[in-house]
Amino acid sequence: MTETTDTTDATDTATDTTGPTRTTHEFDRYADIRAALADPALVPEPPAAHTGPAGASVAWLRATVARFASGEPHRRRRALVEAELARLEPAALQRAVAAEPGGDLRTRVVRTLAEAMGMPEPEAVAKAVTVVSGPYFGAPADEAADEAVAWLVERTAPGATNKADEAGLEAAANRIGLLVQACDATAALAEAAGTGDVPLARVLRENPPLRTTRRVAAHATQVAGRRIAEGDAVVLDLVAAHRTHPVPLTFGAPPRICPGRAHALALADGLRGRRPTAFARLHHQPAPLLLPNAWDHASAAALVAQGFPAIGTTSLGVAAAAGLPDGEAATAEATLALARRLGQGSFLFSVDAEGGFSDDPRDVAELARTLHAAGAAGINLEDGRPDGTLAPAELHAAKIAAVKAAAPALFVNARTDTHWLGRQEDETAARLAVYEQAGADGVFVPGLSDPDGIGALTATLTVPLNILYTPTGPTLADLAGLGVRRVSLGSLLYRRALTAAVATATAIRDGRPTDLTSLSYAEAQALTAPTAGTPETV
Ligand code: HEM
Repeated sequence: MTETTDTTDATDTATDTTGPTRTTHEFDRYADIRAALADPALVPEPPAAHTGPAGASVAWLRATVARFASGEPHRRRRALVEAELARLEPAALQRAVAAEPGGDLRTRVVRTLAEAMGMPEPEAVAKAVTVVSGPYFGAPADEAADEAVAWLVERTAPGATNKADEAGLEAAANRIGLLVQACDATAALAEAAGTGDVPLARVLRENPPLRTTRRVAAHATQVAGRRIAEGDAVVLDLVAAHRTHPVPLTFGAPPRICPGRAHALALADGLRGRRPTAFARLHHQPAPLLLPNAWDHASAAALVAQGFPAIGTTSLGVAAAAGLPDGEAATAEATLALARRLGQGSFLFSVDAEGGFSDDPRDVAELARTLHAAGAAGINLEDGRPDGTLAPAELHAAKIAAVKAAAPALFVNARTDTHWLGRQEDETAARLAVYEQAGADGVFVPGLSDPDGIGALTATLTVPLNILYTPTGPTLADLAGLGVRRVSLGSLLYRRALTAAVATATAIRDGRPTDLTSLSYAEAQALTAPTAGTPETV
């Protein structure tokens, strides 16, 4: 950390350079930066007071958006932005921007968002937003930028143009603010990523479009034992922090973490020409993907017949059905056989492949290629080992990277067993970050059910988080509220089926009454795979 005294302010957001002499504190250690970002005393540079008419200038816009606000106005405005973003499906944005004609990346970003937000004249909106962008982030305002703001307000909130509708104007400002925030940063992210296959999570850490973040002390506080006086400036060096910690801070951190990160990542991927697969899209719907796990063709087909858009497989179910131990790499053959059988159906399925049945990333890549060729849409790869230890994160990351290189369209759900095995739980976030940066499309933490722990992960992850449902844990609605994007049932259905079978048999044997509601013979027979052989007759 260094400290300097200055009278100027080179922040990307500040315009006021006339204030009293103040100290600038620079931090470059990860923990210090996290502490500074979480400190409510440290706020973005407050915008200069605006005096002109509402809705007619960049000064008004800056004074009315979430980005530069604090306290209650910040919470209220952030809620407006979050509600707006909740209406926009990231996967749809990715498809839309990928389908757009080429040209300036910033224009494509804003045009796509404006269109999805139902704004009229998206092309002209994009042009106006690029005019506003510079002064919004602190460059001197000019007449053209003020006119662009007024024009955007007219299009965004025509009902609020009498300037007396404060709530309407505030909503309009935050819709415009959302577009301005998206514009440069998303284009920069796509540019930094280039056309290669580098996962965006890695670009965010290694080549972040935003290299520093600034704060001003609204009142005196301390960071890492250093006293920061009211009015002092704080500069947070993200690039330096990223050298020592895998969880990137490029999207900031709660409570101001970028609310548009899922949308930004989808747009950046779309700008790189990538389109989400049907299975990936299921992870970005308003409700989390509830993925029930099957152990054979009939259980999969029966679940799909009930409207589940995709199913997973359960390694325990597959192993136990074959009389083999789970998690000991004994079920490679049975897993492949099941995948081939499921591949004969027309549904989406993801295969639980334990740790890839090998510690050689080349073998795991070959397995992934085979599964994908069989029709699998996804694969689960876990870092827990048969002896109850965790594989080194680097080895697991190498497997993930090898799989993505071999079968790019296969959705890799990288599982960490820190909670499942009750080991190295404090490594969870770091492991997940390493797996994201290796190319994982989603991450899975079975055994984690503590709402705070789940919320802390979804706050900084860039890919969907998968949680294992437990009857004693949070409900599906709770998990959705915590930002979880996929909920698996693991071996629960298999164990329930076994329990029901045994309970039925023993009740009949012992002459106890029992519920015999079941599929009819014909209904069960109808679950046969399309190309399967002659159905059995009993
Ligand atoms: C669809 C694209 C995007 C949208 C809609 C968006 C929207 C926003 C909004 C509304 C805020 C203000 C939140 C608040 O103050 O509570 C914000 C903050 C932020 N955004 Fe984004 N953003 C997008 C893309 C990006 C990208 C690509 C990056 C960087 C790679 C980024 C980094 C940040 C950061 C670091 C903050 C917090 C700044 C701070 O802590 O003061 N954003 N974003």
